[in-house]
Amino acid sequence: MDQQSPFTHDVVVIGGCGHVGLPLAIALADSGASVLVYDVAESAVETVNNGVLPFDEPGAAGKLADAVSSGNLRASTDPAIVGVAENVIVVIGTPVDEHLNPDPQAIPRALDQCTPYFRDGQLLILRSTVFPGVTRLVEQMVHDRGVRIDVAFCPERIAEGRAMTELYSLPQIVSGTSPEADERAAQLFGRLTGQIVHLEPEEAELAKLFTNTWRYIKFAAVNQFYMIADSRGLDFERIRQGLSQDYPRAADMPGAGYAAGPCLFKDTMQLAAFNDNNFALGHAAMLVNEGLPLYVVSRLAQRHDLSTMTVGILGASFKAGSDDIRSSLAYKLKRILSFKARTVLMTDPYVTVDPELVPLDKVLSEADLLIVATPHDEYRSIRTDKPVADVWKLLATA
Ligand SMILES: NC(=O)c1ccc[n+]([C@@H]2O[C@H](COP(=O)([O-])OP(=O)(O)OC[C@H]3O[C@@H](n4cnc5c(N)ncnc54)[C@H](O)[C@@H]3O)[C@@H](O)[C@H]2O)c1
Repeated sequence: MDQQSPFTHDVVVIGGCGHVGLPLAIALADSGASVLVYDVAESAVETVNNGVLPFDEPGAAGKLADAVSSGNLRASTDPAIVGVAENVIVVIGTPVDEHLNPDPQAIPRALDQCTPYFRDGQLLILRSTVFPGVTRLVEQMVHDRGVRIDVAFCPERIAEGRAMTELYSLPQIVSGTSPEADERAAQLFGRLTGQIVHLEPEEAELAKLFTNTWRYIKFAAVNQFYMIADSRGLDFERIRQGLSQDYPRAADMPGAGYAAGPCLFKDTMQLAAFNDNNFALGHAAMLVNEGLPLYVVSRLAQRHDLSTMTVGILGASFKAGSDDIRSSLAYKLKRILSFKARTVLMTDPYVTVDPELVPLDKVLSEADLLIVATPHDEYRSIRTDKPVADVWKLLATA
């Protein structure tokens, strides 16, 4: 920090022990910034202060250990630390509730604990995916409290597992509620990337939701194609590879698979709510993607008497190579099967938070039937003569 600054630190990340907050805090610390992390999760704060990641994120562990030992990164559960940093970045989770309603007050409410510590001259950057309009709501909230703070929205667009490369390689969307806020936010993210894209806050809020919803709809399209082909005994992956071979207009067609995780579904529902629930395509995508596990189990039930069988589920996390089980459709498969099968066994080489998981060997030896729920590389080499429901076509590509 420069000697004249009223602040002792460059950045504080609120929610900075989370899956996207922590990689950002680490990358900023690695760029030479002095970074504080404020988080309500006590055990994660302790883990981070020991220089250890609370979850897997390739390429982040060494940089975290260095940042903590050099003093460039420190975590705390004390909201007072929000007052000592020039830039305040908010990356707390923004879930929809159990009825799929987004809560536009979630971020303002979370910030409530911190507002007593806000100080004139700070830059407040919202980085969580927010319900459109929340940036202006927060700007209004801080101004109502009489603090002169610049407010910006700069959405996070990394994918978990690639944070430590994508933070540097992806363009950063920057939107300030004033030209000063815009300029200051661009300068801060200029520490990580040379490519800044300027939008207005309302545009940037929609840009983030459109990005995730676009992906979710694409997955739904191929999942529907998969069900059309599969229900007629045809191999969708064979068809997809055939139609996209040397055909550029279909080159971006993804393979079928369980489209899950903490972002795509939730953000599609936020966009639907924003549009007064007039979002036929988004809702259809939800029905297809969330319906795929039900389709797979009902197809299996047509061919097998599941009530006499042990079903083995390969994979628990929501995507390959990850230990994150949030909104994983593997658990939906498990729930459906727990009503239909004699026994359900589930395994995952990465997940550490579920005591009911069993070793792969046990699943392979005891299950009568296997379902590939997560396309972990570790499963590619499995050879089995048991029936396998493998939407990903993982085992067959070995
Ligand atoms: N996970 C992703 O791949 C991804 C990618 C891009 C954007 N996002 C968005 O980033 C945001 C965060 O997602 P995440 O996956 O990192 O969530 P997360 O649950 O992993 O992290 C959120 C963190 O915020 C902390 N927290 C919650 N309430 C708090 C409060 N009031 N004060 C301080 N800390 C608080 C939690 O303890 C947690 O450590 C969401 O809006 C999400 O949509 C996520």
